[in-house]
Amino acid sequence: KKERTLALIKPDAVTKIGDIIQMILDENLMVTKAKMTKLSWTQAGDFYSEHQSKSFFNNLIQFVTSGPVVALEVMGDEAVSTWRKILGPTDSVSARGDASGSLRARFGTDGTRNAAHGSDSLASAARELEFFFPSTTGNGPANTA
Ligand code: CMP
Repeated sequence: KKERTLALIKPDAVTKIGDIIQMILDENLMVTKAKMTKLSWTQAGDFYSEHQSKSFFNNLIQFVTSGPVVALEVMGDEAVSTWRKILGPTDSVSARGDASGSLRARFGTDGTRNAAHGSDSLASAARELEFFFPSTTGNGPANTA
C-alpha cells in the first residue's frame, strides 16, 4: 500500500544527508518534500509531546534543538514500516549489534543521539508531516500557484 511518512534527520546526522537519501532510494522509496530548519525548544517539545513525561525528554529536546534538522516526506510502498526498517533499533548501540547495516547503526551514537526519527504509524505520519509541511497555513510555493 502506498503511504507517506516523515523522516527527520537529527542534528548529528545532517552532514550524512547524501548517504541517508541513498538508503531511502535503495528501498524504492521517493523523497517528495524536504525542509532544513532549526527547531526552537517549544517546537521540539510540541513535536515530541507524547514523550513529555519521560525521563529522557529534556535530553531529547536539548539534542534536537542543538543544530539544524532536515525533515523529509518519504513516499512509497509501506513507507512507514520501510523507513523504520531502514532506521533500525532506537538505540544506536544496540543497532550496531542487531542491525549493523541500519541507518542508526551507521550514523547514530547512543539512545538519544540516534541520527534520525520515523513516524510510528499512519496517524503519527499525518500529524508529523503536517508539523513540518503544513497544508493550510504554509507560504511556500505549493500555496502560491
Ligand atoms: P525517536 O525515534 O526520535 O523517538 C523519540 C526519541 O527519544 C528517540 O528517537 C530517541 O532520540 C529518544 N529516546 C528514546 N528512548 C530513549 C531512552 N530510553 N533514553 C534516551 N533517549 C531516548
